[in-house]
Amino acid sequence: MRPLAADQNSHGTTADFIATLSSFSKLHRAQRWEGTFGEFLANILPGNAVALARTSHEYIWDMLRWFGRAAQPDAAENVRARELFRRELFGIDEPLSRVVDYFKAAAAGSDVGRRLLLLLGPPSGGKSTLAILLKRGLEEYSRTDEGALYAVRGSPLRENPLNLIPTSLRAEFRDRYGVLISGELSPWARDFVEREFEGDFVRVPVERVFLAEASRIGIGTYAPHDPTTADIADLVGSVDLAKVAQIGDEGDPRAWSWSGAVYSASRGMLEMIEILKVKREFLYLLLTLTQEKNVKVSRFPLIHLDETILAHTNLAEFHKFLQEKENEALLDRMVIIKIPYALSYRDESRIYQKLVSGAPAFRNVHLDPHVLNLAAVFGILTRLGKKLRVYAGEAVEGVPETEATRLHAETPEEGMTGVSPRFVVNAISNAITRGNTHSLTSMELLLALKDSIESDARMDAKQKKAWIDHLVTARKEFYNRWVKEDVHRAMFASFEEEAQQLLEKYLDEVEASLDHRQVTDPITGESRPADERFLRSVEEKIKVSDSGKMSFRQEVVRKAMVAFKTGEKFKLVSHARMREAIEQYLFEERRDVLRLVTSTARPDDDARQKISVVQQRLVSEYGYDEHSAKEALSYVTTLLAQE
Ligand SMILES: Nc1ncnc2c1ncn2[C@@H]1O[C@H](COP(=O)(O)OP(=O)(O)OP(=O)(O)O)[C@@H](O)[C@H]1O
Ligand SMILES: [Mg+2]
Repeated sequence: MRPLAADQNSHGTTADFIATLSSFSKLHRAQRWEGTFGEFLANILPGNAVALARTSHEYIWDMLRWFGRAAQPDAAENVRARELFRRELFGIDEPLSRVVDYFKAAAAGSDVGRRLLLLLGPPSGGKSTLAILLKRGLEEYSRTDEGALYAVRGSPLRENPLNLIPTSLRAEFRDRYGVLISGELSPWARDFVEREFEGDFVRVPVERVFLAEASRIGIGTYAPHDPTTADIADLVGSVDLAKVAQIGDEGDPRAWSWSGAVYSASRGMLEMIEILKVKREFLYLLLTLTQEKNVKVSRFPLIHLDETILAHTNLAEFHKFLQEKENEALLDRMVIIKIPYALSYRDESRIYQKLVSGAPAFRNVHLDPHVLNLAAVFGILTRLGKKLRVYAGEAVEGVPETEATRLHAETPEEGMTGVSPRFVVNAISNAITRGNTHSLTSMELLLALKDSIESDARMDAKQKKAWIDHLVTARKEFYNRWVKEDVHRAMFASFEEEAQQLLEKYLDEVEASLDHRQVTDPITGESRPADERFLRSVEEKIKVSDSGKMSFRQEVVRKAMVAFKTGEKFKLVSHARMREAIEQYLFEERRDVLRLVTSTARPDDDARQKISVVQQRLVSEYGYDEHSAKEALSYVTTLLAQE
């Protein structure tokens, strides 16, 4: 067996983790509470009535605000309430803010709380992630003091103990505590109170509950499988025949199986995956549940349920659903929030970063610094075409910034189509697994994407062509610029040093040429005349003419002498024109070297050395590895050749 990495390298981490676990479990135990309803009224209720009477919508809204306490204190309320989503969802602030608004309005008692929340979006656009975050948020919040939730112990619905208070006493309760109790006891609890306590509800046991999806406590999920075999019992339960045999009465609530998803979700949230795929009958039940807060099952009177339903669906299902006229009325009872793809490549790139860093296929794989950004540019192009740079917050020539807002308003459907993050990440990971490589470059990424597009069975030829065109655009308009910048910067990294050396060489040659003397080669010791060609090639960079060269040289020498006399070194900064000449000289020299090295089979040692300095710098300072640095250099050379 392979040891865990944490064990191998750092015992500290393991120990820390165990400490966290045990303090978590201690905390968890400490917070438990159990007692009779009488004790609950005496010890828990005073001062807490409003919190204890919260509906699930109010509870979720408070949960969102609780997470928001970590956000910037002076941010707007809506921004703070999005904090929970911020860690995992990027580039969809606007839709998230609508989700937050929904909970706020529902918590305030507005009618939207009586409508089902439906997230509508393209595949792999973050709908499930949003639901997961809400669920994890609820679990965490229920463990805090502020989020403490109490329930009638043993009730499969974990109903609010306050529901034990008989209707006739509720007005008095309201006068005393300032909250109106609206919930009803479930058939199970009613029977329980009568049978076990002869109606003396004060003795009924109450406990604190902690929401947990894994234990089906306060969080339920329903995914439609085969609609032909799907049974409404999955949602609302059915008669438990074994229990009927035991108890002898089909109408006894103890003989009902309370395992349906709507009961699991009681007090918290029910996630309905692909809701429009479910049978009409299911949909009616859920809509009634949201609107009336109850469900009807045979044998029992209406069962009161307090829960929030979060449903999601994709566009294809939605359009199909719209085709049927009678569905219009149903849509009226839903709040539909569109969850589009991210539209800024920087956000999109963060999504890939997140997906990639969590995937084992990417462990120990080096990605060059532009791979994810480039993939993201392609992704956004498939979603919006030319408006990409406006959304990335990069100015596009001729488009003022306010245009971004207008462009957005113009096309409400955008972000609802195009490539999904999953498609892109799959393409990347295929390239890695197939190539069995530990390094992936931007160019390899483009090839991988091209490959995935070409082999995709769902796309028609026209769309394939359009997407491949987007790859070309991404390369030409983004990658070329980025990689050139890197190479230029790496080429000039040792600039100061080399430029100084070059300046000194220039001065030596100039002096020799002015004095008409020989220059002694420092290595071979041989003498030769001044290198006029070198001098001219530097001077030509700043257009010093042949007739003007003498006065230019004299001026430079004079400046150098002045510096020398005051005991200083003649530096480039003190001569702007020389600086420009030498900069140009060095750049062109290296450009030529780049061309030479990559185009000839056997470059000489000097050239090789120069190139390797640039390459190392790309590695040490610009996030490349050896493989990608080589590629970047040869790619930029090709680009230069075309300039
Ligand atoms: N805007 C986003 N920000 C961060 N991550 C995202 C975003 N959109 C999608 N993802 C990531 O992409 C993956 C797929 O998203 P998710 O499963 O939530 O999509 P979905 O809308 O439920 O898709 P489907 O309709 O296919 O079920 C997830 O890992 C999710 O974290
Ligand atoms: Mg999903």
